[in-house]
Parts: sequence; C-alpha cells; structure tokens
Amino acid sequence: MFNFFKKKKVQESEECEIQPTLESYSFDDVTPIASYFKEQTGVNFDKQLTILKNKMSAFCMKRGYKNFNECLQFIVKDKLTTQELIDYLTVNETYFNREYKQLEKLVEDIKTVQTPVHILCAPCASGEEVYSIVIAFLEANISAQKFSILGIDINGQVIEKAKNAVYNERNVQNLSQELREKYFYKEESSYILKAEAKNSTEFKKINIFDAEFLNLGKFDFIFSRNMLIYFDKETKSKAKNILQSMLKEPTREIFFGHADLF
Ligand SMILES: C[S@@+](CC[C@H](N)C(=O)[O-])C[C@H]1O[C@@H](n2cnc3c(N)ncnc32)[C@H](O)[C@@H]1O
Repeated sequence: MFNFFKKKKVQESEECEIQPTLESYSFDDVTPIASYFKEQTGVNFDKQLTILKNKMSAFCMKRGYKNFNECLQFIVKDKLTTQELIDYLTVNETYFNREYKQLEKLVEDIKTVQTPVHILCAPCASGEEVYSIVIAFLEANISAQKFSILGIDINGQVIEKAKNAVYNERNVQNLSQELREKYFYKEESSYILKAEAKNSTEFKKINIFDAEFLNLGKFDFIFSRNMLIYFDKETKSKAKNILQSMLKEPTREIFFGHADLF
C-alpha cells in the first residue's frame, strides 16, 4: 500500500512515533491488534492475519483511524470501542438443531434427573442453540418448570438478537415445517419465536475469561460448542478447565462441538 508517512530514525533499531505528512491511511502490521484481541477474548488470528488485516483496515477507515497503532490506542482506552471490535470480529455462525444428536442425548440425560436442571450454553451466539434445547425438551414433554437455560456470549449484538428471538429462513432450515408452525409466528420472511419457547431462558453478555463468568454458579449440564475452535491450544485448555469447574457433578460430560475436539 502506498505510504505517505515518514518514519524518523532515532537509533539503529528504534523508530520514533509515526509522523503523518499527508492525510492518508497506512495499514501494515496487524499483529499488535491480533495480540490484544487474543488477550481480551481468547480468539486467535495467528493463522488468519490477512483476513484480520483486511477487516481491521475497513474498521479503521470507517472510524477515521489513520493506522492500526492509532486504532489500538483508542481501543485500549475505550471500552465501547473494544466491544465494537468484539462484535465485529467474532464469528457468530449458528442455527437451530446444530449437531442434533447431542440434543437427543441431553433429552435422555435430563429424564434421569428428578430435580429441575440448570443448563449453561457458553457461547450461545444469537440463541438458536438455547431455543433448540427448549424445543427438544417441550417435544419430549419435559415442562419448562423442569429446566432453566442460561445463554452467554461475549458479543453484545448477538445477545440482543437472542433476546429478541426473531430469525430468518436460513436460521430455521433444520426445523421441520411442523415445528416452525408450532413454535414461531411467521411475519413476512421472519420467524418470531413464541413466548412459550422463551420461558425458562435467560441471556447475558459475558466473556468466559472474566471473573463474572465464574460467579454464574454451577450447572447440571454445559454446552460449549464451536467456540474452542477459535482458540489456541493453551487457551482451549484454560477454557476447558473453567467450564469443568462450573459443573455441579464433575464427572458429567460437557457438550463440545465436534470441531472443538482436541
Ligand atoms: C460459532 S459461535 C457458536 C454458537 C453456538 N454454540 C453453536 O455451536 O452454534 C461462537 C461464539 O463464541 C463467542 N465467543 C468467542 N470468544 C468468547 C469468549 N471469550 N467468551 C464468550 N463467548 C465467546 C463468539 O462471540 C461467537 O458467538
């Protein structure tokens, strides 16, 4: 990229602050942003630096940051901008009845428990996983009094979407026509979840590495699907230990996604 910035040499190996000479943009080394993002979220872009560079160039230009360094300084200082970045960079792909066999197993497991069960979905993205569990339970005649499900995600926008529970054709493509009609109102191209499927659910914006997460307490069942794939080996193991410590019965299995296995 053509660079209108001058760098003043101070020592052989050291360069002073970049001095803009012309109003222009220069996006070179994105690794400091990748490191900061990993430190904050666990998400590792080491093997996707070109993608990150392109995304961050667009992020910076939209906000008028002239280079990654200026952007990073702003992000570090300002919590709202950090959250904007998190909402922008996290991958929130999800849909109803994803890896359905695990939901079937959960339905069987919950039948063996007498007391009401508390389930954690970390992460839940825009809520499809949480509501798929509810629908599977209701279809198995397990009443809403017998369970509560908490969905958490680091991305604030998807948590709002989960609370609103308005979906599109692609989101519900794995649900039969019968289930769509039973649990949703159809308004133009939108599927609006009925209140009965929202009972016993709650959503919160939380980072699994924050102390706040551990304060959520202990759960009978934990789903943590398709998040660990974005972490490196060390972070995966840290996340796994945190999740394990939140199980009421440590011997119970945590439901990970197939791609999360390590
Ligand atoms: C691909 S979605 C998976 C959603 C759902 N569990 C599924 O399998 O369909 C991954 C989610 O992980 C969330 N995430 C990434 N890092 C996180 C962290 N440190 N704490 C909480 N959520 C995180 C992202 O915001 C994203 O919504």
